[in-house]
Amino acid sequence: MSAPEWLMATLGESRPLAPRIRELTLLPDAAYPAYASGSHLLVQVGERADSPANAYSLLGAPRADGLRIAVAQAEPSRGGSAWLHSLAPGDRVRLTLPRNLFPLHEGARRHLFIAGGIGITPFVSHLAALDAAGGDYHLHYAFRGVEDAAFVDALAGHSRVTLYDSRRGQRLDVPALLADAAPAEHVYACGPRRLLDAVWQAGSRLRADNRLHIEAFDAAPEGANGQAFSVHLVRSGMTVEVGRDESILDAIQRQTPVRVDSLCREGYCGTCETRLLSGLADHRDRYLSDAERLAQDRILPCVSRAACERLELDL
Ligand code: FES
Repeated sequence: MSAPEWLMATLGESRPLAPRIRELTLLPDAAYPAYASGSHLLVQVGERADSPANAYSLLGAPRADGLRIAVAQAEPSRGGSAWLHSLAPGDRVRLTLPRNLFPLHEGARRHLFIAGGIGITPFVSHLAALDAAGGDYHLHYAFRGVEDAAFVDALAGHSRVTLYDSRRGQRLDVPALLADAAPAEHVYACGPRRLLDAVWQAGSRLRADNRLHIEAFDAAPEGANGQAFSVHLVRSGMTVEVGRDESILDAIQRQTPVRVDSLCREGYCGTCETRLLSGLADHRDRYLSDAERLAQDRILPCVSRAACERLELDL
């Protein structure tokens, strides 16, 4: 994947959607391109040049009054969401042009959306696009308490939306939902790891038909648990030790100044894809095809590990 293009923007407005969630309106310095529903951007979270970037869904089409994103304060926060919550109108941020890894599938007759918590954000733009075009869809939105969730008021009573508030004992039955998916229906899911795993496991038939689409923006580090190993960064001439409880990506960021673009940090998006020059990878992503895994010439360092004592990467 190509490296993202960055530009500066000013924070226009920051308003609460829920106690832990704020909607930020960003005013780019330069003209911002049109983008389709499901698009996201990266925002650098912090003032240092090497601050990491988090991904946020764009909440709707570009408007004269700016780009809108919703930022949930992570628990525990690694600093990014807390930093964004602390910004005031007039503060400056660095962001990327839009990218869309979660588009509506053009061949779908109907779209089935599954959202968990802050994973509702890409569906805000999908619903607006489909409502405008007369498209057929249904959204199932699970969250933990009305007071902690975004957009519940706007979606309540919508005939194409079903809400599941776990604090009221309302549970989303993912296997039952996917078992009922019609042949021309495409399923899209975004939310916490546990929800996505349930969708992934129940969606094998949909996966085989390329009708299952997943977006993961969970910042929790994954890919850990295994044996420690070494990773040599060939172009940089540095070697990092990857502990059994951290990802290769985290080890590189912790031990070196080498920058690796990342987005989902969950093995879904492919942003961190890196050439594997030697060694055997234990692929744990959901991005590479079976043939690409067998080739052993690339790796997703946010989740994948070594099936040997040492890997060499093109970094
Ligand atoms: S950051 Fe998305 S696959 Fe690694």
